[in-house]
Amino acid sequence: MASRPEKEAPVTTAKLVEMKQKGVKITALTAYDAPTARLLNDAGVDVVLVGDSVGMVKLGYENTLPVTLDEMLHHVKAVKRGNSRALLVADMPYLSYELDVKETLRSAGRMIKEGGAHAVKLEGGLEIAGMVKELLKINIPVMGHLGLTPQALHRFGGYKVQGRKPQEAEKMLTDAKILEGAGAFAVVLECVPPALAREITRKLAIPTIGIGAGAHCDGQILVSDDMFGLSDGAPLKFVKRYADLRPQMLKAVQAYCREVQGGAFPSAEHEFADAPKSDKLSA
Ligand code: KIV
Repeated sequence: MASRPEKEAPVTTAKLVEMKQKGVKITALTAYDAPTARLLNDAGVDVVLVGDSVGMVKLGYENTLPVTLDEMLHHVKAVKRGNSRALLVADMPYLSYELDVKETLRSAGRMIKEGGAHAVKLEGGLEIAGMVKELLKINIPVMGHLGLTPQALHRFGGYKVQGRKPQEAEKMLTDAKILEGAGAFAVVLECVPPALAREITRKLAIPTIGIGAGAHCDGQILVSDDMFGLSDGAPLKFVKRYADLRPQMLKAVQAYCREVQGGAFPSAEHEFADAPKSDKLSA
């Protein structure tokens, strides 16, 4: 097994391609705020994605479609403030890149210039390849996203595994090659059968980052709230909960309510003395 890159060296798009060549797996997670970004960086995560999953995970939307560019920017800026080493990728929200080249360039440019992202992610294959080329002309690196692209939710008729039918699989492979040819530096494969993900991974020189796409991808990504066990609802098959924080947080809030209602909090240890030795707020 090849050794991991220096922890301190910032991760670049070229570094990810080099990691694929050396057989070093890429780690990626989503973040939507500065403390989570700091945590992921402290743990050595290679890619931090500000996903439009923010819409569901943090903003209470039913799906990713209502998320606006300004909402994304708000979170990208926060993540930037907590990011140090990881490659920071910003998701382009629905309708910010499909219609018009100038609007796409301006929207993606804001992610870089105002948000401080290093790259953007776009969903789709052939249909967005032209935009990928245009973005590269103004020096914006692009990550692709194929398979279950959540912005195409209504076309798919729900969240379903993609690429099971031979013609779907062939189209996905072709789309992946088209994205590579257009200059994308990596492609996310979401909810794709592992054999297809392996074939795409083998046929591309750029890395594949899987989510629900099996172990053969060059890297893996999860929504951080899912892997922390913070999301409510039934767990998804491809999510591994590395922690189960929601029940612990619920217990903490219930205990707080009990103690405030019963008068046990605050006790003397959490009060300031009447005749203080110091005005410091810290414990
Ligand atoms: O929005 C998101 O979080 C994503 C990842 C699941 C890849 O696109």
